Amino acid sequence: MIKNICCIGAGYVGGPTMAVIAQKCPEVNVTVVDINEARIAAWNDEDVSKLPVYEPGLDAVVAEARGRNLFFSTNVDKAIDEADMIFISVNTPTKTYGVGKGMAADLKYIELCARQIARVSTTDKIVVEKSTLPVRTAQAIRDILDNTGNDVKYQILSNPEFLAEGTAIEDLHAPDRVLIGGDTNTEEGRAAMQALVEVYASWVPKEQILTTNVWSSELSKLTANAFLAQRVSSINSLSELCEVTEADVDEVAKAIGMDSRIGPKFLKSSVGFGGSCFQKDILNLVYIAKSYGLNEVADYWEQVIIMNDHQKGRFASKIIKTLYNTVNGKKIAFLGWAFKKDTNDTRESAAIYVADILLSEMAQLSVYDPKVPEAQISFDLNYLASRTKEENEAGVTVVTDPYKACEGAHAVAVLTEWDEFKDYDWQRIYDGMLKPAFVFDGRRLLDGEKLKAIGFEYKTIGK
Ligand SMILES: NC(=O)c1ccc[n+]([C@@H]2O[C@H](COP(=O)([O-])OP(=O)(O)OC[C@H]3O[C@@H](n4cnc5c(N)ncnc54)[C@H](O)[C@@H]3O)[C@@H](O)[C@H]2O)c1
Repeated sequence: MIKNICCIGAGYVGGPTMAVIAQKCPEVNVTVVDINEARIAAWNDEDVSKLPVYEPGLDAVVAEARGRNLFFSTNVDKAIDEADMIFISVNTPTKTYGVGKGMAADLKYIELCARQIARVSTTDKIVVEKSTLPVRTAQAIRDILDNTGNDVKYQILSNPEFLAEGTAIEDLHAPDRVLIGGDTNTEEGRAAMQALVEVYASWVPKEQILTTNVWSSELSKLTANAFLAQRVSSINSLSELCEVTEADVDEVAKAIGMDSRIGPKFLKSSVGFGGSCFQKDILNLVYIAKSYGLNEVADYWEQVIIMNDHQKGRFASKIIKTLYNTVNGKKIAFLGWAFKKDTNDTRESAAIYVADILLSEMAQLSVYDPKVPEAQISFDLNYLASRTKEENEAGVTVVTDPYKACEGAHAVAVLTEWDEFKDYDWQRIYDGMLKPAFVFDGRRLLDGEKLKAIGFEYKTIGK
C-alpha cells in the first residue's frame, strides 16, 4: 500500500489533484514540491484566499488537509527520496525553439524530473505521468530511469488528468473516469497499476477507474482534448454562417444538442477557446501525426486551431469595423481577461489576442477581471512581444472597478463569461458611455434584448 506520495509541480494540476488525494486518503502523506519558491510560499499561506490557484472549493480542501497529510515544499530531493509513488505534474508547453518549434511539446521539464528522480532515489518507485505528454513518452522516461546504474526499480504509469479549470474540485471529487495506463504484461506493472487504483478507489467507484496499456492512456488524453476543442471550433465555424443567414447559433446548438448522438455539451459559440491545454495538445497531436508521415491526420486536426484563430481575429475585426473602421484613440472596455470563468488562469486566453489586434490599431483598452491582477495582464501582453512594454503600458489601463472600466468608453467587449457581468447595472454603464454605446458580447452571456431596450448597440457571435 502507498504511504508517501510526492508530486513534482505545484501548478493548476498538481496543487488541486494532490489536495483532493490528501483529503480523501488521510492515511497517505502527500508532499507537493516545486522549484518556484513564491508558488510554494503561496500554497503555504495561512490565508487560504491567497492560494496561487483560484478554484471554487479549493480553499476548503487545502484548509482541511494541509499540515495533516498535505505538505507543500521546495525540498524536491527529500520528497522524491521518501516517496513510494511520484507524480510528475510539471508543465509541458509548446516548444519555442529548434525542431518542432511552435508545435511539438517541450519535454525538457519532464526529462529534468526523470533525471532528478534517477539521481536521488534509493528505494523502488512508481513514477506516474500526470502531465499531458506525447504518446510514447513513458519509453523515454524508462530509458533515463533504467540506465542510472543503481539497483532501484521503477514502474512507470500514465494517469492523465481530465479536470477542467473552474470546476477542478467538483471534477476531482466526482470524475467521469480515472485513467491509469501501465505495463499490463508484467506482474510488477500490474501491481503498480493496482496500487494507484487503490488510491483513487478511496472515493471513486471502481467501475469508473479504467486501466489500459500505457500508450493508450497517453494518447487518450490528447484525443480527449482534441475532441473537445473540435466541438468548439465546429460550432464556432457555424456561428459565422449564422451571422450571414439570420440563423441563430444558440438555436442551432440546442436543436442538434438534443440529438442523443451529439449531446448538448461544448456547443457554446464564443470568441474562441483558450487555456493552456487545447491548443498545445492539438499542436502536439499534429506534430506526432506528421512525424509518422500521417499528413492527412495532421491536417485534419490542425484545422481546429486554424478555425479558433480565425474566430478570435474575426471578433476583433468586428469591433473595428463596427466602430466605423477605426479604433484609434478610442476607449474600449474589456470585461474579463481569464480564459474562462472561475479561474485566474490566463494562458492562451482569447482576450490576449483580441487585445493585441486592437492595440495594433491604436485603441485604448481598459481591462477589468475579477480574479486576474494587473501584473498578469501586463505579462501576457509583453510576452507576445508585439510592441514594447512602454507601448503596452500606454495602451492599456487595468482597473478594479468594472464601472470605471466602462466610463467614457466607446464600446464594451465581454471576453470571459464571469457570472457577475450579467448582474451589473447596465443602465449605469450606458449612462457613462459615449454614444452610440456598443456592447460586443464574445460569450453570448448578456441579455441582448434588455441591453437594446436600454439603448445599447448590442453585437454578439452567431446571431
Ligand atoms: N491546467 C489544466 O487544466 C490541465 C488539465 C489537465 C492536464 N494538464 C497538464 O498538466 C501539466 C501541468 O499543467 P499545469 O497547468 O499544472 O502547469 P503549471 O505551469 O501551472 O505548473 C507546473 C509547475 O511545475 C513546476 N516545475 C517545472 N519543472 C519543475 C521541476 N523540474 N521541479 C519542480 N517543479 C517544476 C513549475 O514551476 C510550475 O509551478 C501539463 O502537462 C498540462 O498539459 C493541465
